[in-house]
Amino acid sequence: MSQLTFDAAGARALEAIYLTPDVIAQRARVIDLLAAQPGERVLDVGVGPGLLAYDIARLVGETGQLVGLDLSAAMVAAAAERLADLPQAQVREGDAVRLDLADGSFDAVVSTQVYEYVADMPRALGELHRVLRSGGRALILDTDWRSLVWHSSDQARMDRVLACWDAHLADPHLPARLGPLLRAAGFEVRRAEILPMFSPRWQPVSYAGGMMRTIHNFVRGNGARFDLSADEIEAWRADQQALIERGEYFFSVNRYAFLATR
Ligand SMILES: C[S@@+](CC[C@H](N)C(=O)[O-])C[C@H]1O[C@@H](n2cnc3c(N)ncnc32)[C@H](O)[C@@H]1O
Repeated sequence: MSQLTFDAAGARALEAIYLTPDVIAQRARVIDLLAAQPGERVLDVGVGPGLLAYDIARLVGETGQLVGLDLSAAMVAAAAERLADLPQAQVREGDAVRLDLADGSFDAVVSTQVYEYVADMPRALGELHRVLRSGGRALILDTDWRSLVWHSSDQARMDRVLACWDAHLADPHLPARLGPLLRAAGFEVRRAEILPMFSPRWQPVSYAGGMMRTIHNFVRGNGARFDLSADEIEAWRADQQALIERGEYFFSVNRYAFLATR
């Protein structure tokens, strides 16, 4: 399994995508659903560059606490820099499947675009359940890449490119299993909703615009294992460019948010 590398350059590229209007709107919806209150203790699993953590830390205020964990040292460094002026925030390295945190120590946990990278979901959700207090909230958001509608002049080639891209995740279809996984871990699912990343026309500053570069780079590095030649990958990219120039570009993929309580 090849995964994306979340090193310093990866952290910068991801941050640029997270500052596009679609992802800003997603963050606003996650913040509404989580409804963090002043004084609450909130854990962000897979904190990434810390954009969501920053907003939540400000909502819980100095009487509350925000703890951000991430497997990647580069992400921890980026988040720590962003959160440096907020004394209620702490960021450190940590693994979703082995939380170095006390039982019942959080009122709420949030994790966006992280569990799709985690192979052992029963163990990761067991850890979430353990660190939440009774009645505490968990907000989890992931993408199901099966929901992708991405127009191409050659669908068979597009399917081969996307099969390669799917390999960057432990489970590119996690949302379809999340409800039952949460219930099996002892949670009650209160709400589930779709957050589309939708570009019905080409917009360079958009989630889809950023992902064009990310997917192109990933497939160039990993295509050989999927019998995708360099020429085929460049033909796929050139086709997208031609569609953009003819005004025929279309991209839509869904993210799924689950709000559960312990
Ligand atoms: C796509 S980014 C999402 C970042 C952030 N949650 C957001 O939505 O802005 C995925 C993040 O999950 C982290 N990650 C992946 N597997 C992890 C694990 N097992 N434990 C903790 N973090 C993990 C990566 O290092 C990366 O920062």
